[in-house]
Amino acid sequence: MRIILRILLVVVLLAGAGLAWLALRSPAQRPASDEKVEATPQRVARGQYLVENVADCFGCHSDHHWDRFALPVKNGTKGQGGYPFDAKLGVPGLVQAQNITQDKETGLGDWTDGEIMRALREGVNRKGEALFPMMPYEFFHSMSDEDARSVVAFLRTVPAVRHPIAPRRLDFPVNLMIKFAPKPLSGPVSAPDPKDTVAYGQYLATIAGCAGCHTPHDDKGQPIPTAWFTGGWVMVGPWGRVVSANLTPDPDNYMGQASRDEFVGRFKAFETLGGDNAPVAPPGKNTVMPWSSFAGMTREDLGAIYDYLKTLKPVKKPINRFPDAPPEPAPADQRAATEQKS
Ligand code: HEC
Ligand code: HEC
Repeated sequence: MRIILRILLVVVLLAGAGLAWLALRSPAQRPASDEKVEATPQRVARGQYLVENVADCFGCHSDHHWDRFALPVKNGTKGQGGYPFDAKLGVPGLVQAQNITQDKETGLGDWTDGEIMRALREGVNRKGEALFPMMPYEFFHSMSDEDARSVVAFLRTVPAVRHPIAPRRLDFPVNLMIKFAPKPLSGPVSAPDPKDTVAYGQYLATIAGCAGCHTPHDDKGQPIPTAWFTGGWVMVGPWGRVVSANLTPDPDNYMGQASRDEFVGRFKAFETLGGDNAPVAPPGKNTVMPWSSFAGMTREDLGAIYDYLKTLKPVKKPINRFPDAPPEPAPADQRAATEQKS
């Protein structure tokens, strides 16, 4: 009996010591670089393209028209932050996208270029604390040095909006576990040659976070690695309920059937349907898929993403993307309706 008690005591002490160690531990990090990014016109333009059309930073870091199709960003709120991630999205607590405008008090106005690039790709804030990986730094980790500089060059042109965001609240043990998520870069990062469309498409799909949404998540808010790109993440929020699609090229899925031109055209159709022009979504059919942001990608870049997705291993997994949409009338019902009329 005494021996068992002693063993128990040791176990409890060890667990306590482990927790204390975790609570005090800083995430892996390196000092932010002291580089001052030169804002060439090319960099600002490339940065705008990445921020607005590829990495979709404003998709999270802004306020939205929640009732309109694909949740367009409200005018005047770009970068002010506020998108809430909570239990409905599998996050144990409440994490909100921060203000990334140039406001000095509530935004990034006082951050150095190096601190912004480190937060973006290595996942720690100014103070060196871990960011919750709902900020997709694990994906931005692959962003090239030149693209990261371009993002910073553009962010410096985003008008300041004073808009404080409440500090995040995470439940135990996730609040401690996220300390393991940040990973410092170990050297220079470059992008693949755009002529290699599969490799470049993978690069773009990575920084666009396609897999982040198109992979189901576990109860700690983390994507399940073995189900990569197979869809099925049920996302519930002010838009209603929507389920991400299976993007593997199984013959029963959209990606198994669509041609490259159809794929590119499906995105491009949203080019004129963004912002305040976006129509109100039909009942049960709103989506978080950033159709109008991605519509601004070039045809070459969308084509490269298609080429990459076609290399994924096909997985059979049928998905109802809009489970709450009223059922479409079956062809037989339609026939009955027309027969009745005549
Ligand atoms: C999927 C949503 C999402 C996307 C896309 C996203 N972010 Fe974030 N970001 C967040 C969330 C959520 C946080 C807050 C994390 C936390 O508090 O732990 C955050 C935090 C940050 C921070 C730290 C701010 C601070 O005050 O600590 C910076 C900087 C940032 N994001 C920049 C960007 C940039 C630049 C992009 C695009 C290249 C981007 N984010 C894309 C969700 C996102
Ligand atoms: C913020 C989450 C999110 C991100 C990021 C995202 N998607 Fe989606 N996507 C969805 C959801 C949810 C759906 C299902 C509803 C719909 O069709 O709009 C969807 C649907 C799709 C469809 C339609 C599939 C079908 O079966 O008809 C395609 C194609 C697609 N996404 C491609 C992409 C690509 C490529 C990327 C990256 C460049 C991407 N998605 C990034 C959430 C996302």
